[in-house]
Amino acid sequence: MLWARLLTGLLRFQMQHRRHRGTLCRVEDRPLAADGSRFTRRLRLVPAGPGNARDLWLVHNDDGVWPWYGNEKPSLEQAHQRAEFMGESWHLHGVHKWIAYDRVSGEVVGRGGLSRTPVDDDWGQLYAFLPAEPWVRVAHEIGRPFVAHANWLEIGWALRRGFWGRGYASEIGRAGLAFAFGVLRAQAVVSCTVRHNVRSRAVMERIGMRYAGEIRSRGFVEGMEGEQDDAPFAVCVLLREDWDRSAVTD
Ligand SMILES: CC(C)(COP(=O)(O)OP(=O)(O)OC[C@H]1O[C@@H](n2cnc3c(N)ncnc32)[C@H](O)[C@@H]1OP(=O)(O)O)[C@@H](O)C(=O)NCCC(=O)NCCS
Repeated sequence: MLWARLLTGLLRFQMQHRRHRGTLCRVEDRPLAADGSRFTRRLRLVPAGPGNARDLWLVHNDDGVWPWYGNEKPSLEQAHQRAEFMGESWHLHGVHKWIAYDRVSGEVVGRGGLSRTPVDDDWGQLYAFLPAEPWVRVAHEIGRPFVAHANWLEIGWALRRGFWGRGYASEIGRAGLAFAFGVLRAQAVVSCTVRHNVRSRAVMERIGMRYAGEIRSRGFVEGMEGEQDDAPFAVCVLLREDWDRSAVTD
């Protein structure tokens, strides 16, 4: 997927619309003190890092998840490397994915949320779907662990198979939007998935994002074996102004 470009050489294991105005709720953006966790109605969202690498591995090792991200299950060692990268991104960029836990049982439900998008050719394709304004190309002031866009973010989700069909991804997604616009003051949030990942596209629409078009990147193509260089990815976008407008009507 798009993340494969960013992480090539680091590891092969990678992460990669109907609007319900009343459900784009700010109440899902509740900080939980010191460790930076946030609560949603059913989930505790903990910033991913070395301390929860095994839980990240549990998600990406799941048979419902890994086939969307690569050709084989990730090893625990790869998950540790990935979690370290995520922790570093939280530290340097102020954001990356969360690990989602059931608030009551503590079970690992999935992972998801935001990340800053790298300034590279693949992500540059998204300029076509964003306003023709200077903020789109501005890079984040900290150029580590990679050079990232400052003013817009990517959002995504992955749930262990046993937690599908219960609204958890949408819950993570809404929390991510609230964090992006309410805390990080982002101008836009984008989401990309291979064209045939209809479940992921449905989450995007459910949380109020709008289909914008397609880009091409390395990934899977329906009906073809293995990753292809120019797989079609569907792109959804939510601009700050649309988020703000929804706030007025909430
Ligand atoms: C993509 C993925 C996260 C979507 O998960 P999901 O469970 O379909 O999405 P949601 O959590 O938003 O759940 C929505 C469903 O739960 C239902 N639901 C049940 N109880 C609910 C509740 N309390 N609140 C909201 N929805 C609820 C909805 O009606 C909807 O059902 P439907 O799919 O039959 O329409 C999941 O399929 C996955 O992990 N896939 C593998 C990884 C992946 O592809 N990630 C994306 C890569 S870009």
